[in-house]
Amino acid sequence: MKILLLGSPGAGKGTMAEMVEKDFGILHLSSGDILREAVKQGTPLGKRAKIYIEKGELVPDELIVDIMKEKINDQDFILDGFPRNVNQAQKLEEANIKLDLVLNVMASEGTIIFRLSGRRVCKQCGKIYHLVNMPPRSEGICDICGGELIQREDDRPETIKRRLEVYREQSEELVNYYRDKGILKNIDANGNREKTYDKIAKLLWLKKKK
Ligand code: AP5
Repeated sequence: MKILLLGSPGAGKGTMAEMVEKDFGILHLSSGDILREAVKQGTPLGKRAKIYIEKGELVPDELIVDIMKEKINDQDFILDGFPRNVNQAQKLEEANIKLDLVLNVMASEGTIIFRLSGRRVCKQCGKIYHLVNMPPRSEGICDICGGELIQREDDRPETIKRRLEVYREQSEELVNYYRDKGILKNIDANGNREKTYDKIAKLLWLKKKK
């Protein structure tokens, strides 16, 4: 299965992708995680990407396309955050990487802002938490690896605002692109994690049986 999760910042793409990876044993590839790791390591890519990420802008296509193509090979995968626009989608196809299913994860603006402002992530292993929806067992400490939980730099209110604007500007064209190919399914992600995941898992089981 070659799957893409589309959706607004904070809709729950990373959370759902983690659950799919665990249940279905397919590789989760998050362009955001790859870029944040490059920033942390201070690589040339990371140094360039940091400037855009901190402002809530997308990084230029040439910075992300090749690195994602390199990570994707013949195995099953669930992509999260890439492709982000039609140009990136076309570049993926030119590399002969064809998607089977695109899930458009949708939540209301109020839900999204609540989720982003309460999100915490493990500095060490990247596990995603939420102060209210999914708190860790001990405050500020990752249940999995004991790492410190932090707020993402781009989860500050001004940056959230810009990320949501950028998403609105870019998303419609990409959603239409995949809808025209007949592989897009909308997922209502306003419900809790289990409810939302249930919808995704049902679709994936059906796809697997075919
Ligand atoms: P990226 O990391 O892709 O961020 P994003 O798209 O803004 O998405 P988020 O990670 O913020 O949200 P999510 O939908 O994964 O939500 P999550 O599951 O964490 O990109 C970051 C930046 O990198 C971009 O701004 C850009 O600069 C750059 N970039 C990345 N890819 C790029 C590309 N292809 N091209 C150019 N630039 C690129 O959930 C959020 C919170 O809600 C969590 O706390 C979670 O616990 C909670 N939650 C989730 N689902 C539920 C639920 N159903 N019920 C209750 N709580 C929930």
